Amino acid sequence: MSHEQTVKLHDHLFRLIIPYSRLEKAIGEVASRINSDYNDKERPLFIGVLNGSFMFMSELLKNIEFECEVSFIKIASYNGIANSQNISELIGLTSELRGRHVIIVEDIVDTGHSIDHLLRSVSALGPASIAVATLILKPDVYDKKHKIDYCAIEVPDKFIVGFGMDYDQLGRNLKGIYEIADE
Ligand code: IMP
Ligand code: MG
Repeated sequence: MSHEQTVKLHDHLFRLIIPYSRLEKAIGEVASRINSDYNDKERPLFIGVLNGSFMFMSELLKNIEFECEVSFIKIASYNGIANSQNISELIGLTSELRGRHVIIVEDIVDTGHSIDHLLRSVSALGPASIAVATLILKPDVYDKKHKIDYCAIEVPDKFIVGFGMDYDQLGRNLKGIYEIADE
């Protein structure tokens, strides 16, 4: 299944746009940059945002050469009562973040709403530094201030699946990245 050029998920057809060989190379390059930026930092903590980040985290961490910790969270967003800002609840966060160097690992940054909320919640916990590493960025859509520190691959504004990302829970197991082909 993972080497097919097209794949049908639910009611849509998707076409391979990024084969695993290109993902492997691009993720290796991101890891090299992180290796040189963090090798003098004390035990950095990678935090993956579930579910989509699991494959990127796995491939990235195979290439990380310094001593580090790895953790995963889920986010649940809700509207705060006192103001109109969205707040993110970090589910599953067990590590103390105060004074830590945190690298948030995401599958995709699209509009940036999720990462924006997440950064607000994580910075409130007092880390020494926060960076964002994402497998995919859609630069034409991203409209938030925070610079995305590490991005493996940029894509145009089309819905994609694979390598952790889903269409209604299907497609996460695809080894390449596929773009919607029939709309
Ligand atoms: P945001 O627009 O940056 O807040 O993206 C929110 C979340 O929507 C991402 O973390 C993904 O889980 C999901 N998402 C955004 N764009 C895509 C896509 O093209 N394919 C699959 N999931 C997506
Ligand atoms: Mg996500």
